[in-house]
Amino acid sequence: MRISGAKNSVLPLMAASLLTSDRVVLRNVPRVWDVFTMKKLLGQLGVSVTVTEEGTAELQASEITSRRAPYELVRTMRASILVLGSLMGRCREASVSLPGGCAIGDRPVNLHINGLKKLGANVELDKGYVNASAATLTGSEIYFDTITVTGTENMMMAAALAEGETVLLNAACEPEVVDLADMLRKMGAIIEGDGTAAVRIRGVKKLSGAEHSVIPDRIEAGTFIIAGCLAGGGLKIADCCPSHLDALLDKLKDVGHTFDIGDNSVAILPPGKSVCQDMTTRPYPGFATDMQAQYMVLMTQTAGSSVIDETIFENRFMHVPELKRMGADIRTDGGKAMVRGATPLTGANVMATDLRASASLVLAGLFAEGETIIDRVYHIDRGYEKIEEKFRSLGASIERIK
Ligand code: EPZ
Repeated sequence: MRISGAKNSVLPLMAASLLTSDRVVLRNVPRVWDVFTMKKLLGQLGVSVTVTEEGTAELQASEITSRRAPYELVRTMRASILVLGSLMGRCREASVSLPGGCAIGDRPVNLHINGLKKLGANVELDKGYVNASAATLTGSEIYFDTITVTGTENMMMAAALAEGETVLLNAACEPEVVDLADMLRKMGAIIEGDGTAAVRIRGVKKLSGAEHSVIPDRIEAGTFIIAGCLAGGGLKIADCCPSHLDALLDKLKDVGHTFDIGDNSVAILPPGKSVCQDMTTRPYPGFATDMQAQYMVLMTQTAGSSVIDETIFENRFMHVPELKRMGADIRTDGGKAMVRGATPLTGANVMATDLRASASLVLAGLFAEGETIIDRVYHIDRGYEKIEEKFRSLGASIERIK
């Protein structure tokens, strides 16, 4: 089966349409819930957005009719914060609701705010909104205390239309950051070093439209690769980008799984003897936090014991109590989870809490004895396109009941 475009790339790319009054065309757009939330948010700012069945999006911000991203939309999708950087780049003014926490953590935006202040913006917090304005934005050196993906993306977008040069230090290196830089360059931005910890942006006066194809979703690909490992091989994932999956594939090889890796495909082969391996989540190119829950399911089905250390988010073990109800042997202590395998899982009624935890419950349900009912699957639809159809095409028995 084929992998869709990356959710965490299409969202900043859509926000970047605010930086120009010309038309922006995005291809390989995943039809996931968050894309339609971003469409709605951009629409409220004056952007015309169409998304076709085939996954082509056309966006045009001929003029910005509002600079305010309201709480009722922002609270449903944290990535809404990405309009802060592009509104500041385009109109030097933005009022964006604080996203508020979500299931996996408190999700602060202090680094986004500090970055804008470094570019010369006035930024105040008032009644739950970030109100930013600037007569001009002047390039500056911005050091991120913590590596932040959307923080890096926001500063790239604001700096692209600032005066002078901006250097981002301790920047995020995720492929989605590089994908955004690729499109910004097509729009006329001068950016180099994206994909490394030091990104240089030389501001320009104006950006024009562009056409760009969204990179494949490495987290969706990783989720199906783990499914292939759980199934004992015999699965091939096409249209993915194996070079974005090094940390995952290396770890899975250490566990004992084997792969046939092509230019844009990964075939999962029958494993040799597999044994649990410890894992620690890290910023890219380390093991992705968005793959932690899925890896944990594999460890419950692998002989031995392993310690999973979640270092990025403070509350990203919401899947653990649900997996334990299915028979998994997991103990957590702060950001660490001790998993003992292999324990047979039995189907149960479970509840999805956040996007990636929900995906791990689908994996557990597919390999458990008996039937599993997952409630609140809207979490899954936020980031996975037609997940039940994709799993069914691989022979799984899975259906949506409401
Ligand atoms: C992006 O979130 C992704 N979302 C997340 O994917 C992903 O889990 C995360 O990066 C880490 O890889 C999108 O790209 C839309 P961060 P982001 O800023 O940018 C702290 C999914 O499942 N921090 O890199 O919001 C923060 O609390 C989602 O698809 C600050 O302290 O994450 C966290 O501990 C979930 N201050 C760490 O940095 C800030 O101003 C990394 O967060 C910003 C972040």
